[in-house]
Amino acid sequence: MSKRTCLAIVLAAGEGARMRSAKPKVLHAVAGRSLLAHVLAAVRGAGTERAAVVIGPDAQAVADATRRVLPSADVFVQRERRGTAHAVLAARAAIEEGFDDILVIFGDTPLISAETLRRLRDAIASGASIAVLGFRPADPTGYGRLITNGHRLVAIREHRDASDLERTINLCNGGLMALRGECALDVLDRIGDGNDKREFYLTDAVAIAEHMALEAVALETSEDEVRGINTKAQLAEAEDVLQWRLRDAAMAAGVTLVAPETVFLSADTKLGRDVVIEPNVVFGPGVTVDDEAVIHAFCHLEGAHVGKGASVGPFARLRPGARLGAKSRIGNFVEVKGSEFVFCNYDGKNKHLTEVGAGAFIGSNSSLVAPVKIGDAAYVGSGSVITDEVPAGALAIGRGRQVNKLGRAKGLAAKGPAAKTTKSAKSAPAKPKATKTVKTAKTAAAKKKAKTKR
Ligand code: UD1
Ligand code: CA
Repeated sequence: MSKRTCLAIVLAAGEGARMRSAKPKVLHAVAGRSLLAHVLAAVRGAGTERAAVVIGPDAQAVADATRRVLPSADVFVQRERRGTAHAVLAARAAIEEGFDDILVIFGDTPLISAETLRRLRDAIASGASIAVLGFRPADPTGYGRLITNGHRLVAIREHRDASDLERTINLCNGGLMALRGECALDVLDRIGDGNDKREFYLTDAVAIAEHMALEAVALETSEDEVRGINTKAQLAEAEDVLQWRLRDAAMAAGVTLVAPETVFLSADTKLGRDVVIEPNVVFGPGVTVDDEAVIHAFCHLEGAHVGKGASVGPFARLRPGARLGAKSRIGNFVEVKGSEFVFCNYDGKNKHLTEVGAGAFIGSNSSLVAPVKIGDAAYVGSGSVITDEVPAGALAIGRGRQVNKLGRAKGLAAKGPAAKTTKSAKSAPAKPKATKTVKTAKTAAAKKKAKTKR
């Protein structure tokens, strides 16, 4: 089969009032990633070439998030909230470009998999004009019911409009749909708002297709996959489902989780082989742990890299930017902070050991050049390069003194970008009347910071 093109339309213009939040619904997170980002990841995984996200008016934050996660996506604004079909047609310009397959996905359905999106596309490739994703919920109240006739899907009846008999059907609409691109607009433009909510229901596309003698089919999936998030309780349920998926996948890949129910992962957490995670560890976004490392109990890691065979904790906090070289050891009650924190464990030939004692604090932009030992409760000032042992309780500052050479910038600037002028520290601007060299106030500032931190 030649490659089919696909446009995915993600509906995210709902108000999400039941979240009782100042934040747009699709920006709430499960497993350290927004609902929208989960959906867009599935969209990308389904081999779609284009994505269109439909947002409500005044939803700049959703537009920004879309651009961050999937820069190639188009954002369309649905000015009035007039129903799911109306929302799809907000992306008319994209549909008109002409794609083989059109996928419609709700932005609040984060557990949808790329594989299921592919199954919907396959149904269109095999000849159907519409493919709807169905599921059998424990309680079908509130969902649209799928009305079938043999293999054909003939209509979707919204719960509110369904007869008593139709309400006994337990095959429900999961809310996702694929449409054949060449007839999509024909079908969508025929949808009216003749219902008591005066909304344009996407679900009416099925009965219209039946009328036009176009084939519609229903595929089935698990309730978990089409779980829609409307409330904070449902957000927590989705978190639970996703955490178990991530834990199971980690264990299947050779990670030891001593008490998996107490370990919280992010969707992008990368754990190597034979990594051991002790109980009560939280992984925020952006963490990579190389093979054979051990994360002891009660650690919190975010935006950090843990090298092969390293040992972290118990009770350690790795903040964004922390980079621990192979075999380094981070003791208990340690906080590692910094945008460029580095454990320099490799001298080009050998790996050396870096040890950080209990309760130590490592400031931003520090480098610890192994082999080196940081004593218990020691404090390493920001921007330090540490080459010698820091005794317990000591404050270590290891950086070159600032030198200000008055009037010397001029010639340098003319030679090109201000490469050489970056030496003037932001924290201690040079005073105009200073003598030739000005000592910075950094030492005092760091001491003060150390005090307030304790
Ligand atoms: C919808 C389906 C229903 C299905 C259920 C599954 C319709 C008419 N009904 O009902 O058959 O069983 O989902 O969860 O499609 N949205 C917009 N603009 C609008 C209206 C909605 O962008 O004008 C978006 C919402 O943000 C949401 C999605 O469309 O992501 C679904 O809307 P919602 O109102 O939640 O539909 P349901 O009543 O749950
Ligand atoms: Ca819904």
